[in-house]
Amino acid sequence: MIPCPSEDALAAWLEGRLPHEATATLRAHVDGCADCRAAISARPSESDVGAPLLLPSTERRSGEAEPPPSSSEPWAPPSTFDDYRVVRSLGRGGMGQVYLAHDEVLDRPVALKFVAADNPDPRTIERLRVEARAIARLQHPNVVAVFRIGEVRGRPYIAYEFVEGEPLELLPKPVPWQAALRIALGLARGLAAAHRRGVLHRDIKPANVMLDANGEVKLLDFGLAKLVDRPTGRDAGRRVSSRPPGAPARRTLSDVSAATTAILMEADAAPALEAAGLTHGGTMMGTPLYLAPELWTGTAGTLQSDVYALGLVLYELCVGRLPHAGLDLHAIASWVTARALPPLRSLCPDVPEMLAEVIDRCVLRDPAARFASAEEVQAALEETEALCRAFQIVRSGPASAGSPETDADVVGASFARLAPRAEELVSRFYERLFDREPALRALFPPDMREQRLKLAAALQLVIDNLRAPDKLVEMLEALGRRHAAYATLPEHFDAVGRALLEALEELEGDAWSPATARAWAGAYAQVAEAMRRGLEAARGTAVSSARTPAPLLAAETRFATSADASLAYRAAGDGPLDLVLVQGWVTHVEAAWEDALMSRFFAELGARARLVVLDQRGTGMSEREGAGAPAEQQAEDLLAVLDAAGVERAALLGVGGGFAPCALLAAAHPARARALIALGSAAQMAAWPGCLFGLSGEDAEEAERALRSGWGEPLFLDRLAPSAADDAAFRRSWAAYLRHGASPSGAARMLRAHAAADIRSTLGLVSAPSLVLHRAGDRAVPAAAGRDLAGRIRGARYVELPGDDHLPFVGASRPLLAALRAFLDAEAAGGSTVSSFAPPAALDTSGAASGK
Ligand code: HEM
Repeated sequence: MIPCPSEDALAAWLEGRLPHEATATLRAHVDGCADCRAAISARPSESDVGAPLLLPSTERRSGEAEPPPSSSEPWAPPSTFDDYRVVRSLGRGGMGQVYLAHDEVLDRPVALKFVAADNPDPRTIERLRVEARAIARLQHPNVVAVFRIGEVRGRPYIAYEFVEGEPLELLPKPVPWQAALRIALGLARGLAAAHRRGVLHRDIKPANVMLDANGEVKLLDFGLAKLVDRPTGRDAGRRVSSRPPGAPARRTLSDVSAATTAILMEADAAPALEAAGLTHGGTMMGTPLYLAPELWTGTAGTLQSDVYALGLVLYELCVGRLPHAGLDLHAIASWVTARALPPLRSLCPDVPEMLAEVIDRCVLRDPAARFASAEEVQAALEETEALCRAFQIVRSGPASAGSPETDADVVGASFARLAPRAEELVSRFYERLFDREPALRALFPPDMREQRLKLAAALQLVIDNLRAPDKLVEMLEALGRRHAAYATLPEHFDAVGRALLEALEELEGDAWSPATARAWAGAYAQVAEAMRRGLEAARGTAVSSARTPAPLLAAETRFATSADASLAYRAAGDGPLDLVLVQGWVTHVEAAWEDALMSRFFAELGARARLVVLDQRGTGMSEREGAGAPAEQQAEDLLAVLDAAGVERAALLGVGGGFAPCALLAAAHPARARALIALGSAAQMAAWPGCLFGLSGEDAEEAERALRSGWGEPLFLDRLAPSAADDAAFRRSWAAYLRHGASPSGAARMLRAHAAADIRSTLGLVSAPSLVLHRAGDRAVPAAAGRDLAGRIRGARYVELPGDDHLPFVGASRPLLAALRAFLDAEAAGGSTVSSFAPPAALDTSGAASGK
């Protein structure tokens, strides 16, 4: 490293008077030298003194009053005036002379800024007032505060909050993206406050942003600010820049070497730029390196040009150096107006996508494509920060040795240790889960091999993408939504979390520490929260509509003809697919529509699809002759209803004994079955002891006797709808429904037909996407029958739902509707929920993004 430069050399550097090579060498030295940085902080600098103007204030328009003759002693304020005692000079720049003073009344330090020129012209003084008014409009923690505007011995001054700290200009760069994000938020908030109050800053650059002793961002120097709603006109620059039209520029363009010094020039004062086609008669104001492309062509500054400069500062923080730094003014202008900055992540792959997108959008060449104001940038950054925080990947410093690890680091490291044993981890996890909650086992497929792989892949994906939190949240919410179809309830996540932690602890052995446990618990909580949100959203739609079902306008009852028998059906509702409901036993389409519970259930189904409900042969309004026809005949009848209702391809939903004709139709006419859904059904009812629809021998005779003697009573409610069995109103309506729907002997014949049905051999032929739903405690058809049924249909998804009721419209219908809805939605979208867990294409699965 070179030896420490002299104070003069430092001053020359800070004032941009050094040649490029010397600047680079000196900056490298200062970045690594605490002494020099301290010396710089203590000395006057341009950033302290505000708005340096290259065009000297001594230049005036013709006809202006002569300034008072300059004295040989530079002007200095009295040592005490107003409430202040002047302590020392903090520095002098192009426009401002700043003193540290002490407010004797309020006992606090202040910075007093006077016009720098010894003989200030009226426009320079006016600019100081504009600056004061601009800041006085704002009161924001990220904007340096103005305490007072005053005047002493004919000189106006601004009393500022004294900010002790370091300008971003002196911060060693690049900074870790987490620090850049923190600074970005403060800076965007400060600038947004300005934009809200109609103040354009017009000179955002690292020298004008301070980090105070607490690391808080303070936006300084509104020396070039413009009050938008009280415009001083596009000639604001003219009034400050007082060179007479046509007068030669005092400095040549190549003199403006640092490019980090604010300039203020009229187009007519910049013939060289104009000759180069870089300005078109406008006023250019700002600091060359941070000027937006449109400003080089003379367009007046806008909110978007402030946004550009803000983006550039953030870009520089992340990358370390702007690609056009070190060029001369011409070269900067050509670079900025002709070229785009490389996407931030191409230079800093560690920066999270979401943050990089915000910064990249700020620095787009087309102002209209940028954020419209700093407020929008602030909103985008806050969202980014919230997501990063949600995934605990925000930390204040780099992840170097000695710096605290984030939870994401700890989880990443733990998972990296376990990755070679991921399958074992997942097996262990499911063991723990089913030990704890045996009831959950029923939700999963009998063969867990595939499921284990899917979960291991999902975990890997989550860990790999901790640095793409927006994508991750999207992905997890979608995964949560899919879980509605697996009958997952929000409270299940607690058991899953405990089982996961136990499995992790077992496998980690000695490497498991309280910190690891905390980190995993935190990470799991975030993942579960996003998934729960998706799950609730999927269930919520069903829940809310279950509370207030839209009235389902039913068309008239219509009839189809099948083998000379008339079959009654109703079609209602709307949706992307046709859903045909085939109920198992006694029904009556018109009485059902009169019943509150049933019509609500239909309304739910009809909200997602065009619903067709029918009475089977022998029941309801269909031909009463032929009750108890074999399942094959019922399938023929069903086909006739589809034809009559104009349904080409249907999702067939069979409840109990109503599933057999659906399955037979799907197997024999695959083109007509878009999907097949069983609810509370079996491949062979008679195979399941105690099954109401599979009774034989004495049990069957006893049931028939009950039917014949008790027809008119609310029969079998303890089996069909135990949760409503004690509800007097429901008992009455159920009894009436049965009476409407069938004669006792017809009902008995239907029971016998169900007991005789056996579709086991047919199920292997079904190719439609299939869903088997079964309430876990179904007292009419045991859940084991449902699991068995699902196992017989290729690719079928089995979802066991909570509850004891067999009748779908009784008891907890929410999970049932949610599962059905998720399945039908996926069907309507052309896919199946049985899809494997596939990451969104845009998701980074390389692991590079995680920094591993
Ligand atoms: C952090 C929490 C969880 C993660 C990361 C997770 C991940 C997965 C993944 C990746 C699948 C594969 C299918 C798909 O992608 O849609 C899946 C399926 C499934 N999950 Fe989860 N899950 C979580 C929580 C839960 C909870 C709390 C339950 C409730 C008990 C649950 C029950 C199920 C079931 C039943 C399936 C379907 C199995 C099948 O039939 O194929 N999951 N899960």
